[in-house]
Amino acid sequence: MAERYDVVVIGAGPGGYEAAIRAAQLGLRTACIDDASRPDGKPAPGGTCTNVGCIPSKALLQSSENFEQVGHAFAEHGIDVSGAAIDVGRMLARKAKIVTQSNDGILYLFKKNKIAFFHGVGSFVAKAGDAWRIAVAGKTPTELAATHVIVATGSRPRPLPGVAIDNRRVLDNEGALAIPAVPSRLGVVGAGVIGLEMGSVWRRLGAQVTVLEALPSLLPTVDVTIAREAQKLFAKQGLAIHTGVTLGEVGVDANAVTVNYTDAGGKAHVASFDRLVVAIGRVPYTTGLGAAAVGLHCDERGFVVVDDACRTNLPNIWAVGDVVRGPMLAHKASEEGVAVAERIAGQVPHVDFNTIPWVIYTSPEIAWVGKTEQQLKADGVDFRAGQFPFTANGRARALGDTRGLVKILADRASDAILGVHMIGPLVSELISEGVVAMEFGAASEDIARITHAHPTLSEAVREAALAVDGRTLNL
Ligand code: FAD
Ligand code: NAI
Repeated sequence: MAERYDVVVIGAGPGGYEAAIRAAQLGLRTACIDDASRPDGKPAPGGTCTNVGCIPSKALLQSSENFEQVGHAFAEHGIDVSGAAIDVGRMLARKAKIVTQSNDGILYLFKKNKIAFFHGVGSFVAKAGDAWRIAVAGKTPTELAATHVIVATGSRPRPLPGVAIDNRRVLDNEGALAIPAVPSRLGVVGAGVIGLEMGSVWRRLGAQVTVLEALPSLLPTVDVTIAREAQKLFAKQGLAIHTGVTLGEVGVDANAVTVNYTDAGGKAHVASFDRLVVAIGRVPYTTGLGAAAVGLHCDERGFVVVDDACRTNLPNIWAVGDVVRGPMLAHKASEEGVAVAERIAGQVPHVDFNTIPWVIYTSPEIAWVGKTEQQLKADGVDFRAGQFPFTANGRARALGDTRGLVKILADRASDAILGVHMIGPLVSELISEGVVAMEFGAASEDIARITHAHPTLSEAVREAALAVDGRTLNL
């Protein structure tokens, strides 16, 4: 007899494992299945985010930023360091340790919350009475019965037609996070989030990085002021970004990757790289799930089709995270997972897509929430904008990083905050103020009247709010 659960979650990424924890907290008998393994075969729960995404990329971004600081920023503080060198092996070992600690942390949370964890591929078998039968193919194959199933199987890199990823010369995100030595020439296809973050890591460590982007402009979904500033700063750092590029043939031999492309003006080029990172977006992952066996509806792009509450076309089957519509972000996946668990338990949660923050962990960081200036213009919304540069912020000057600015967009009539956009030091942390403000329906005047500690970077947020009303104090 298959073991019976109230909830079975398939996938232990941020969407799945947090859904499982919340379901267990609410008293539901919960199991979670995940197929990812560590090099030694042990389970590696945490999904893309923990294993080959958010966590390892931020570990490498920090290591490479430290290296860059030693080489370029310390002297200004009067600290002379000579002979600084990067040991890539040690840097990667540190990253691997952080990933393993995170895997272990999730296994601990499963135990603490009495969640049954199954290591293997979970797939739909059939409906039997009021339960869904789920097979687990792993070291010890088994079958579970579930009243509710949450599909949280995530995403995988979008393939570039005609270009095979071998993770030696041609790399996806996994390979880009594990290059064993700094390449002298690194090519990147796609100036999206992964391209910019991974390009930044290897550039800081000494690679000559060339990014080839198909679209005519950089970061089209980012507020136009911030995108312009980013482009200027990235160029200054030596990140060569070519936009409006059409990719041609890609050739790989033992020593190099040769990329043929035409530039925005139609001129043909041939570039040769030691390694090439392909980061042209991600696609939903449902291989092995057995969706067709039970008639689970996926759209033409492979996303599991869900309504606003993450309900699929089948009763008591839910889907969350990268495998469904919406931004492919860890915190979006988690919010949806938690909300579904609460819905199953009879609660009425709500996820507001308009207040999901985005962060790009380049240097300087880019962060935003809500609408961009170009979106508001396209929607015909009458708004006021206020902005404040970090050059005029005392803490940024003390930090030695005055790049960037904060920009706030507010409705002209009601003053309600419609968007908060930032580029600058630690804006990944500062953006939370914008998220909280928008969640509480704040006006720009509310932020302008809140006491912000001095000297902090957050004062730039208050000054941008004051600027909406044309009354900055420190500019
Ligand atoms: P996933 O994390 O993909 O997890 C799905 C899990 O399900 C995987 O472990 C998979 O192996 C497993 N699985 C799939 N099918 C089955 C099956 N049939 N049976 C059992 N298990 C199965 N987002 C951010 O918010 N911030 C960041 O800084 C950030 N950085 C990123 C950096 C990189 C390089 C990449 C690639 C992504 C990054 N992301 C970031 C995106 C983030 O990783 C994803 O949005 C997030 O992991 C999605 O979570 P999820 O739970 O939907 O799926
Ligand atoms: P992306 O969608 O951010 O960027 C892909 C880029 O590739 C786009 O600019 C696109 O125009 C370009 N492109 C597509 N086809 C191309 C071609 N043939 N030639 C040249 N350029 C081409 O996707 P990316 O960077 O792969 O990341 C996937 C997702 O992972 C992100 O959208 C994001 O959701 C998530 N992520 C989030 C991070 C964060 O929150 N900090 C970090 C990394 C990834």
